[in-house]
Amino acid sequence: MEFSDFGNKLSSHSGILQLMDDIAKPLPDGVKARPLGGGNPARVGEVEKAYRQEVEKLLEDGDSFENVIAHYDSPQGRVGFLRTVAEFFSAEYGWNITEENVALTNGSQSAMFYLFNLFSGKTRGRTQTVLFPLMPEYIGYADQGIEEDTFVSIPALCEYSDDHTFKYKLDRNAVESYLAGHPEVGAMAVSRPTNPSGNVLTDNEIDFLSDLAGRYSIPLIVDNAYGLPFPDIIFTDNAAPIWNENIVLSMSLSKIGLPSIRTGILIAKKEIIKAVGNINAIAALATGSFGPVLADNLLRTGELTRLASEVVRPFYRSKAERMESLIRKHFDGTDYYLHKIEGSIFCWIYLPSLRISTLDFYAELMKDGVVTVPGEYFFFGSKEKRYPHEHFDKCLRLNYSGDDDLIAEGIAIIAEKYRQFSV
Ligand SMILES: Cc1ncc(COP(=O)(O)O)c(C=O)c1O
Repeated sequence: MEFSDFGNKLSSHSGILQLMDDIAKPLPDGVKARPLGGGNPARVGEVEKAYRQEVEKLLEDGDSFENVIAHYDSPQGRVGFLRTVAEFFSAEYGWNITEENVALTNGSQSAMFYLFNLFSGKTRGRTQTVLFPLMPEYIGYADQGIEEDTFVSIPALCEYSDDHTFKYKLDRNAVESYLAGHPEVGAMAVSRPTNPSGNVLTDNEIDFLSDLAGRYSIPLIVDNAYGLPFPDIIFTDNAAPIWNENIVLSMSLSKIGLPSIRTGILIAKKEIIKAVGNINAIAALATGSFGPVLADNLLRTGELTRLASEVVRPFYRSKAERMESLIRKHFDGTDYYLHKIEGSIFCWIYLPSLRISTLDFYAELMKDGVVTVPGEYFFFGSKEKRYPHEHFDKCLRLNYSGDDDLIAEGIAIIAEKYRQFSV
């Protein structure tokens, strides 16, 4: 038998596969796991309780449970929930949307796969691309293009501070001139907050990108998996929720308690939503009903956003603060920079004196059970083998949502090994 080009591309080794494998695979006997890799969110008791109550109500309400499990929803998603989403965002933010502007997918990972391939690849004799205007970006996008070489990117600018922190900034001139010289760009995409760095593009940066998208008649895909108004894992105050007809806004219920139930929510103009619904029909027949059923009432009553701002955000904020103080304590005296922790469940540390690549450093850390994600995977969209950014093989992504004691042990080991492997 022989796999097709599509088959080979999607079934070969990818960073996201390694990451999901690392989550599931046991370490060798006798090695204690300190999991700082993966993208698994934490369990947050009050959020779980809210979903439990929704399940109990469903079970107690005649044959509602059986009705949910016995029917396919429409390819665009559960109709009642599409309406709830549209009504919520219209009322809350004045967005001019109806249920025709909303589609569901089985997780936002699938949504991004659909969108990237909707806008990239062979198109009337030329190859359309997706432009990532600020690299590093989410490892989970890197291999999602069905055709080869359809992703392009602009390396992030970097602003360092004296307190061992830094922040990525959009290289506006580079983005503008890239678009001016490349009419084959079919869409732009950013995650906000950004996985891996925890950067949050400012309102001003998003306005800039959205205006450019409008000028070039291409969509700006904004992956809001950690953003506002839910799960609201954002610690800055210059990042309002935004949508307009130039933007495809992708949201997820994964980081607000439901990673296993696979619920992605898209808000976009009607043609795009229709296309996503049609792809759903072909690729998945229908979307899962359970996420929408659990979240509908919570979203409608404002409870979901209350939980986000009053429970989820403070929970992660305190984890982030703890992580930062651990890093400051253990890396003291070394040459390190921590990206300002503005959102998401990760921190991103730059280790300029590392004398080996982070792929090799990752393997060293694994020997002591410290699971991290090496930075190389988050740089893609360039034909050059070595991505043209000084951070390319000198950064680690660390998930801070896990057990506090194991995180503390993990950070101590990473700092000790950094000293050992410094130039
Ligand atoms: C930036 C970003 N987008 C999308 C996803 C996919 O999430 P899900 O498919 O669970 O909605 C993740 C998961 O970690 C992520 O970090």
